[in-house]
Amino acid sequence: MAADRYYNTTPLYYLNAKPHIGHAYCTVLVDAMTRFERLFGAEVHFLTGTDEHGQKVQKAAEQRGLTPQQHVDELQAAFRDLWPTLHIAYDDFIRTTEPRHTQAVRTLLQRLYDQGDIYVQDYAGWYSTAAERFWAEEELVDGKCPDTGLEVQYITERNYFFKMSKYGETLRAHIVANPGFIRPANRANEVLGFLDKGLQDLCISRPKERLSWGIPIPFDEDYVTYVWFDALTNYIAALGWPDDPAFEKWWPHANHYIGKDILTTHSVYWTTMLLAAGVPLPQSITATGWWLSGDRKMSKSLGNVVDPLGMKDVYGPEVLRYFLLRDMVVGLDSNFTEEALVKRNNSDLANDLGNLARRAAGLVGRYFEGKVPDGGPPTPDEEEIIAEATSLRGRVQDLVGDLAVHNAIEETMQLVRRLNKYMTDTAPFKTIKTDPAAAARSLYTVLEGLRHAACLLAPVMPEKMAELTAALGAEPVTLIHDLRWGGLAPGATLTMEEALFPRRDMPTVDAPEAPAEPAKPAKKEKADKKAPASEPEAGVITFDDFMKVELRVATVLEAERVSGSDKLLRLQVDLGAERRQVVAGIGKQIAPEQIVGRQVVMVANLAPRKIFKLESQGMILAIDTPEGGLELLQPTGPVPAGERAH
Ligand code: MSP
Repeated sequence: MAADRYYNTTPLYYLNAKPHIGHAYCTVLVDAMTRFERLFGAEVHFLTGTDEHGQKVQKAAEQRGLTPQQHVDELQAAFRDLWPTLHIAYDDFIRTTEPRHTQAVRTLLQRLYDQGDIYVQDYAGWYSTAAERFWAEEELVDGKCPDTGLEVQYITERNYFFKMSKYGETLRAHIVANPGFIRPANRANEVLGFLDKGLQDLCISRPKERLSWGIPIPFDEDYVTYVWFDALTNYIAALGWPDDPAFEKWWPHANHYIGKDILTTHSVYWTTMLLAAGVPLPQSITATGWWLSGDRKMSKSLGNVVDPLGMKDVYGPEVLRYFLLRDMVVGLDSNFTEEALVKRNNSDLANDLGNLARRAAGLVGRYFEGKVPDGGPPTPDEEEIIAEATSLRGRVQDLVGDLAVHNAIEETMQLVRRLNKYMTDTAPFKTIKTDPAAAARSLYTVLEGLRHAACLLAPVMPEKMAELTAALGAEPVTLIHDLRWGGLAPGATLTMEEALFPRRDMPTVDAPEAPAEPAKPAKKEKADKKAPASEPEAGVITFDDFMKVELRVATVLEAERVSGSDKLLRLQVDLGAERRQVVAGIGKQIAPEQIVGRQVVMVANLAPRKIFKLESQGMILAIDTPEGGLELLQPTGPVPAGERAH
């Protein structure tokens, strides 16, 4: 049974660097979870913010010649302003320099001090400035900080300590009794392993002479609070702990989403702080993996950070969101490449989803005056699709509940692919002439299926799916409970003007120039590791192999010769949902004016390639004639551009 209330949090991002894709990922994930949970009927409060104290921030400010306050005031805006551009709608944004936060930290410190859970002691140990913490001798790696690999200094200092060790057993019992408290499960084992080594007490102060940029400790103003003790408290500070009713309302439903590198601070430091303060533990702590670049964590210091702003500006924020959520399994690492993003865009969004919508809308425009046709009673074919779309709601809900967001997306995309196949199989553009009721039924089914997909993908791509829903002539569905088959009203006006997701060029494809080739027989693919035992004989391909090749009808809109070549024509073609440029080696036999306005058959899913510095986004099929001429392959009568041959 899903919960009916959630309080979802992201980490508070350090203001020592500008936001990057790692930050964007966690915030997009929490935004999507929040939207899914709201769709499933829950009430959700979503918090994010910035971590503004500590040595790293103080140093970053010094390097810029600014006071820490000037520095954080400026940099927090980079985060705050970025989120709406990624269509992230948080409910609250907390800065650790705000009075509501500093007050809560001081209240918590005072409470723990008064009850004897904080004590003062001289402490000698290895201090890492970069990691802002002491390490025990045996924790060092080759005498260096295990986190950063940088130098450590042996220092003796009088400091305040939180009796973390006192709460270790209670914490262990809680983790064991509550599977799902730390997610994914392997992370819970990691924390239990950490507890097995025995918990130390936690140094929670820094002398002001060493670090001035922090929250002063209420019972000793010569010290500021350790940045983690400070930052973690934000999760209750933002709710007005201890007195605000918002705290009572939301805190029991808290779900923290963090990266795996800050698992210990959250699942050990924070939880023991809460146990000491008598505050119940959060519902869950979810540790995500990292986005890697060339198999290394993207990080500022490695200089391999992909700029999310750049990606969203080139491909659109919702394509980036789709990619981040579809290509990352929550908890595991994933490699970020622009190529993978473009592939996702082209295959899932431009092709499967966008093209289907355009094809269906095109036919409705042509044959039903642009109005949703009345599907009438479904036949067994449609019954199957209706059952699939209807059960999808529950499956998506379960998958999201299990954090398998990538699978929830995939299940919805499978419905979209099923609709594509159904559209091809039932061929409404043919049946319109022989059996208009069947054509109406097919198109209604596709449009209604698309409305279901739009609703279930809305948490991932809120604006694009709102656009699709509106283009289908439907009202947005805000509660999954209200998503019922038949909700799309016959007679509603379709307004699908633009391609929802334009196809994109592959960013790094820069193959050596090569002349265009007329169609060649498909080469036999290398045997896949997973290929079934009965391989087809040499020279023969399987049906599945054939279905990989997308042959589509295109209408030639423009044609011109490529300068410097007598063989090449540069064509602009209409592929239904989009326009493409094709560079074709047909210029010796066919003049540009002979081909404009004609329909041709092209391979629509061929990887783009550069020919004479021009990108060719497909291949036109043609046959050599014995006289040395060329016959273009074309349908015998007009068909909608983009229709697939099969
Ligand atoms: N300020 C602390 C968190 C305090 S929470 C009370 C912090 N900030 S951070 O800016 O360094 O990192 C914030 C989050 O970004 C972490 O969860 C971290 O895992 C995540 N990411 C940073 N780089 C990342 C990737 N390359 N990939 C995915 N997330 C990663 O830690």
